[in-house]
Amino acid sequence: MTISSSFVSQEDVFQDKKILLGVTGSVAAYKAVGLASRLVKRGAKVKVVLTKAGRQFITPLAFSSITLDEVCSSMFPESPPLAAHLHLSLARGADLILVYPATANIIAKMAHGLADDLLSTLLLAGGPPVVIAPAMNTSMYLQEVTQKNMSLLEERGVMFLGPEEGDLACGEYGVGRLIEEEKAIEEIDVLLRRSTQLKGKKFLITAGGTREPIDPVRFITNRSSGKMGKYLAEEALARGAEVIFLKAPMNVPPPVRSHLIEVETAQEMYQEALRVFPEVDVVVMAAAVSDFYPAEKVEEKISKKERKELTLTLLPTPDILAEMGKGKEKQFLVGFSAETDQALERAREKMRDKGLNMIVVNDISRKDIGFGSEFNQVTILHQDGGQRETPRAHKRLISRAIMDEIVARLSDLNSP
Ligand code: C5P
Repeated sequence: MTISSSFVSQEDVFQDKKILLGVTGSVAAYKAVGLASRLVKRGAKVKVVLTKAGRQFITPLAFSSITLDEVCSSMFPESPPLAAHLHLSLARGADLILVYPATANIIAKMAHGLADDLLSTLLLAGGPPVVIAPAMNTSMYLQEVTQKNMSLLEERGVMFLGPEEGDLACGEYGVGRLIEEEKAIEEIDVLLRRSTQLKGKKFLITAGGTREPIDPVRFITNRSSGKMGKYLAEEALARGAEVIFLKAPMNVPPPVRSHLIEVETAQEMYQEALRVFPEVDVVVMAAAVSDFYPAEKVEEKISKKERKELTLTLLPTPDILAEMGKGKEKQFLVGFSAETDQALERAREKMRDKGLNMIVVNDISRKDIGFGSEFNQVTILHQDGGQRETPRAHKRLISRAIMDEIVARLSDLNSP
């Protein structure tokens, strides 16, 4: 007997997902019991961490009766097998950390790296994606400091659900109400689906600015900080991709969980990039590769004595993207274009000449975005004529928009 595929139910995205549910001291804490119950019904494995203030509003028993698991509260439980590492094992063992409800206090602690109880410590330990559902009085929510703390966290990749506008427990009306359980579940559903969007795909992402030696102590480089490449790699990892991160020197630490390859010069980057090229599905060349290198290889430091001038002869470096464009089979190639004028026309030309699928254009004549800055504003051009412009935003949000475009085009390519 055959069963039509439309009758075979798709596995629930929550099935077997390990969700760490942090519950803090809000009058809305009772709603977390309903949320935990819905998550368990959808097949998730829920571990609850209840703060000391949270215990004032709801008992651990209310949660453990639903999750059939012990509720954790203390960094130093009385009979722990591995108490010293409890915060690490809890953080690393989860697929997602959800703080529901989150007070202004836990948000402030997260924003500033405080770790004075189990929940704040495991949040600092990091690992899985973090989702925060704030709940507080309107004036606390609208305080400049709370808004700044939330922006800081958003820039670091934390996601927020709500809050909503409505009647508040204090009797006032306004924004600050905890997002309803059902809506929260819907949003987490989308998030979990996104976390597997790039499963099975292998990315090569380059970042940083190459260094071309003049002598053993001096070199030619550029202003690239490496931030865009780092955020792009983190975004690809968050969506389930495997990432080879090929880095030239940069000002920020490379993303954790990527396969790291470190190089200095354009020539070294060229060799490594082409070596791994056959095994990857997508290449994102966010590195600022030097276009020229000093022709002469000098083994000793050039002395300034008896020298009125120094003339360097520079030779062109190999164009890595163009080389890949020539030899590509299945790969989706993404380039970057930094220009000071006629940015779009030049980028279109580059896309054509180098055989790219997509190019990300930024105008480096602006001081408020681009090199070194945390912010950027880009135009994304596609080979087929498609175009998307982003607003000026933090580079982490720009990397999300770029990755959305890559994902959309990859699924177009894969659909019959
Ligand atoms: O031609 P232009 O240097 O403006 O192109 C920029 C794009 O090409 C970037 O994505 C950069 O990483 C890549 N590039 C390269 N090899 C070079 C120079 C730039 O792959 N030698």
